[in-house]
Amino acid sequence: MLTWVNHVALAVPDLEKAAARYRESLGARVSIPQRLPEHGVTVAFVTIANTKIELLEPLGENSPIASFLAKHPDGGMHHVCYEVTDINAARDHLLTSGARILCDGIPKIGAHGRPVLFLHPKDFFGTLIELEEVKGASRA
Ligand code: CO
Repeated sequence: MLTWVNHVALAVPDLEKAAARYRESLGARVSIPQRLPEHGVTVAFVTIANTKIELLEPLGENSPIASFLAKHPDGGMHHVCYEVTDINAARDHLLTSGARILCDGIPKIGAHGRPVLFLHPKDFFGTLIELEEVKGASRA
């Protein structure tokens, strides 16, 4: 069901500082930060040959990462995003297997303009999982 790791997301308290650290200390390519008010985050991507690292800073009052940063003020790993080719089939299989889907289980359009779902971290050993639908996901 899972095809590729699309990204690993890190919540950071200060995106500018995090981007500078990735550029200067790790020699990484970091995108210009984008404000995504509908998702409550400002995001920048670190591009690595086989995946992306998403740096997330809270934006606005109801940011979904605000409570995470309250618990982890220095920042930390927030979620792993796996690609699937059919998100509705993936959801149905997950529900059948007893896993919980966050929110109402209806895929939303995520930060990359593609349908996404989040799975309950308690069902996956403490890690929040995002699934993103990428059709024809074979990159081999
Ligand atoms: Co994500």
